[in-house]
Amino acid sequence: MIKELGCLQEACISILAEDTIAFDTPYVGRFGLSMLLEFKAESCQKHILYDTNSAAAPILHNLEIMEKSLDRVDTIFLSHCHYDHSDGLGGILEAIDRPVAVIAHCEIFRPCFEINPDGIRHIGIVGQSRQELEQKGAIFTLTSAPLNLMTGVTTSGEIERITSFEILEDLYTTIDGQVVQDHEKDDGAVILNFEQGLVIITGCCHAGIVNTIMQAQKITGVEKIHAVIGGLHFQDASEEKIAKSIGALKEVEWIFAGHCTGFEGMCRIAGVKGERFKAIHTGTEIRITGPECEPVVTTIPTAQRDRHRILCGLKK
Ligand SMILES: [Fe+2]
Ligand SMILES: [Fe+2]
Repeated sequence: MIKELGCLQEACISILAEDTIAFDTPYVGRFGLSMLLEFKAESCQKHILYDTNSAAAPILHNLEIMEKSLDRVDTIFLSHCHYDHSDGLGGILEAIDRPVAVIAHCEIFRPCFEINPDGIRHIGIVGQSRQELEQKGAIFTLTSAPLNLMTGVTTSGEIERITSFEILEDLYTTIDGQVVQDHEKDDGAVILNFEQGLVIITGCCHAGIVNTIMQAQKITGVEKIHAVIGGLHFQDASEEKIAKSIGALKEVEWIFAGHCTGFEGMCRIAGVKGERFKAIHTGTEIRITGPECEPVVTTIPTAQRDRHRILCGLKK
């Protein structure tokens, strides 16, 4: 268990790039996920970039519309190796253009591939070597252990697989020249500790949300889950996994899900959580403050959207 994790006072989680955009918003969506995490604790503040989507360009485009920047980002967290969370890393490092800590699991650079009828498809980090990324400013901390990022914020570390229904996917890696099942040990989350409970931020959640919740409870010693934010990987999941996961999510106060959760998965969660479920899209901003306040969710203020329309018109 992490000693003296402390509590966060405020968090703003901005979805910089996700598969979808919300109705009547000017963002660019792209398969994958990237989030800007802006945190405030009593004695410090921190900006963290969570994942880098499958390209840097939509992230940079959407940041401008959201009137946000990477200027104060000193840490990038990679939830796992898959390209839809990591391919934007090189471009983002170039845009940041200064040394930045990159935190991920120690197996993040392993080969990871599908075996399909028409051949193999690599879905891990390819085309970006560790050395090249380091030349662009990445300072890697690769670890399977939980890492305290600031007061009230920790990574999950390698998530213990406990449940029987959150099973491994058909993915492969190589060990000592042999093709073997990929165990996706690198799948991790960021965990925020608020007075009102934990907030768990997931990428694809390949470890399963129930295993991830248990890991968060184990390392923090906090039982109550205030919110889950991110991808839940109900897309193409078994009925047993979806039903049992949603059963566990009933205990979570708020769910903000998108990406690989899939349309059907989101409908199922909405059916159980009602107003306490919100789909996330590119441009969604979730603000979490004191224990007396509900999370505030916005997509884009009208004035900001209209200003963007006018500016785009002027550029043509
Ligand atoms: Fe993934
Ligand atoms: Fe994903």
